Amino acid sequence: MSGRTVVRGGLVVTAAEETHADVLVEDGRIAALAASGTAAAEAFTAERTIDATGRYVLPGGVDGHTHMEMPFGGTRSADTFETGTRAAAWGGTTTVVDFAVQSVGRSLREGLDAWHAKAEGKCAIDYGFHMIVSDVRPGTLREMDRLVEEGVTSFKQFMAYPGVLYSDDGQILRAMQRAAGNGGLIMMHAENGIAIDVLAEQALARGETAPRHHGEVRKALLEAEATHRAIQLARVAGAPLYVVHVSAREAVAELVAARDLGLPVFGETCPQYLFLSTDDLARPDFEGAKYVCSTPLRPREHQAALWRGLRTNDLQVVSTDHCPFCFAGQKELGRGDFTRIPNGLPGVENRMDLLHQAVVEGHLSRRRWIEIACATPARMFGLYPRKGTIAPGSDADLVVYDPHTTQVLSAATHHMDVDYSAYEGRTVTGQVETVLSRGEPVVERREYVGRAGHGVFLPRSTCQYLN
Ligand code: URP
Ligand code: ZN
Ligand code: ZN
Repeated sequence: MSGRTVVRGGLVVTAAEETHADVLVEDGRIAALAASGTAAAEAFTAERTIDATGRYVLPGGVDGHTHMEMPFGGTRSADTFETGTRAAAWGGTTTVVDFAVQSVGRSLREGLDAWHAKAEGKCAIDYGFHMIVSDVRPGTLREMDRLVEEGVTSFKQFMAYPGVLYSDDGQILRAMQRAAGNGGLIMMHAENGIAIDVLAEQALARGETAPRHHGEVRKALLEAEATHRAIQLARVAGAPLYVVHVSAREAVAELVAARDLGLPVFGETCPQYLFLSTDDLARPDFEGAKYVCSTPLRPREHQAALWRGLRTNDLQVVSTDHCPFCFAGQKELGRGDFTRIPNGLPGVENRMDLLHQAVVEGHLSRRRWIEIACATPARMFGLYPRKGTIAPGSDADLVVYDPHTTQVLSAATHHMDVDYSAYEGRTVTGQVETVLSRGEPVVERREYVGRAGHGVFLPRSTCQYLN
């Protein structure tokens, strides 16, 4: 009976099915499931019983896009691996895949080692790394092969941020060709950064310095153009492509067109694009700076295309792109010049709840919620079925979720180490109650019982979503 827990009486929701079942956990893994009330379920014996009656039992969320302690614009994102992964757990996420960064002139190895050093011994939940490739040289391409072998199987490139993280089309094509050979997945920040920088310079020259101009110069057409170009480059290279933080309906249309041709092209969006808009970016008194991220928030009309894409599977994943900067002292760096506002929003704690709210409001089915937030990101990034589902042999990353209680999202109550909430004052229905990571309680009836260092690095296999 050593190391056993049984979660009784809940509605077990996975991407594939919903069943009233008891879940037996042994030595950190799911040992068995049996329909609640049956003799098979009654036969489950354990040291610890969690009563999930009237609750959902969900696989822990998999957030495939976070930036803890990320340097940006002369500062760094406010959550450390310790605070950010703790906040993730509070929000029902038990795995994050963060981005290690290659600095220009440095090797991938140096960047990856630096991120391992930041994360090791600090995380409350399990974590993996993608690698941001910002300097494609012959050595970089060879290093990509080695990273794939050691479980860092996805590489982000930027068509934005010239002079910092930017790759030109030749560098992108070379990295894609390499990924086509080694099984890596190229993740693309698709915005035409060269054109955006011209528009930003012109806007500033006209005296247009407020946060809302960040959104105005980062035009939807320039997201769509870059998305189209990335798709064609991937097609030429014979590589799959995953487009991150899709926000414009014109970019969704490019993904739809590619997928209609049968191309292995995938898209991610984020809660901020589904629930926030340029109205937030236009908030007075510089408050719009809280909503500066790239790709930018779009006019509300774009949201319908994102919801539709999620329903039709033209968009497969909702990640957070959690990249928090405090309003005081960080976002404020851009007073008088929107190009100096650090880009990024907090959200790792809010994703599962906001997507449950989407279920409540009829945008998504319950199973689709779990598919886009747990199962598909696990498949996309080579973690399935260890993560993303509730099945014998899977890690016992479980969330007991109360779908009836309401909560008000607020910086006063959240656990992210940032001084504002992008969703301040918003009421949502549903709340995480208890969270297990590999069978260990991290949150227990809304009390934090986890510890820094419980979370381990996850070497990942190559993308499983193509199979
Ligand atoms: O504004 C954003 N998205 N900041 C994080 C970096 C990135 O491009 O994902
Ligand atoms: Zn990006
Ligand atoms: Zn990001």
